[in-house]
Amino acid sequence: MSFDTRAFRQALGCFPTGVAVITTAGDGADHKGITVNSFTSVSLDPPLVLWCIDRKSDRFTAFMKASAYTISLLGTVHEDVSSRLAKQGAHSLDGIDLIHTKLGPPALADALAIFECESEAVHQGGDHAILVGRVVRFAKREAGAPLVFFQGRYGALASGE
Ligand SMILES: Cc1cc2nc3c(=O)[nH]c(=O)nc-3n(C[C@H](O)[C@H](O)[C@H](O)COP(=O)(O)O)c2cc1C
Repeated sequence: MSFDTRAFRQALGCFPTGVAVITTAGDGADHKGITVNSFTSVSLDPPLVLWCIDRKSDRFTAFMKASAYTISLLGTVHEDVSSRLAKQGAHSLDGIDLIHTKLGPPALADALAIFECESEAVHQGGDHAILVGRVVRFAKREAGAPLVFFQGRYGALASGE
């Protein structure tokens, strides 16, 4: 069957998502981050979440080797950080406001929620790998507007007021 990948991608973009940054601890202060919208919850007990990474990504090997990563759910205040960590080869967290975590990989300051994860499993997912993380610690802010991604563009939720 012939498949128009570009059209497929555009159709998938009709599903609005939140945006997350996943970080992993490198050697010394060489932490790495990647912007994703493939984050989703999997299980409450045990507490599992998943996200997917492109096998062609520069960051693929770093995240495959990582025994732990931190997931930060982004607010509208993070749009620039999200764009930066979505650029080809731009995985450095230098200059980004970070919070230390007990597990190691830093969280983004002012994230709506953070999940510190140990790598539970990696599954094949075509040209992506599916990473399942076991949440060992989490935190949530009481307020904050989520960053939204829809049809290739950033947006925000309507306030309804
Ligand atoms: C909103 C948004 C969501 C994204 N979601 C994912 C994702 O779930 N998985 C992924 O591998 N890349 C995703 N990307 C692409 C990566 O952030 C990044 O652009 C890509 O990894 C850059 O290539 P490199 O890793 O080879 O440097 C997303 C980009 C944007 C802007």
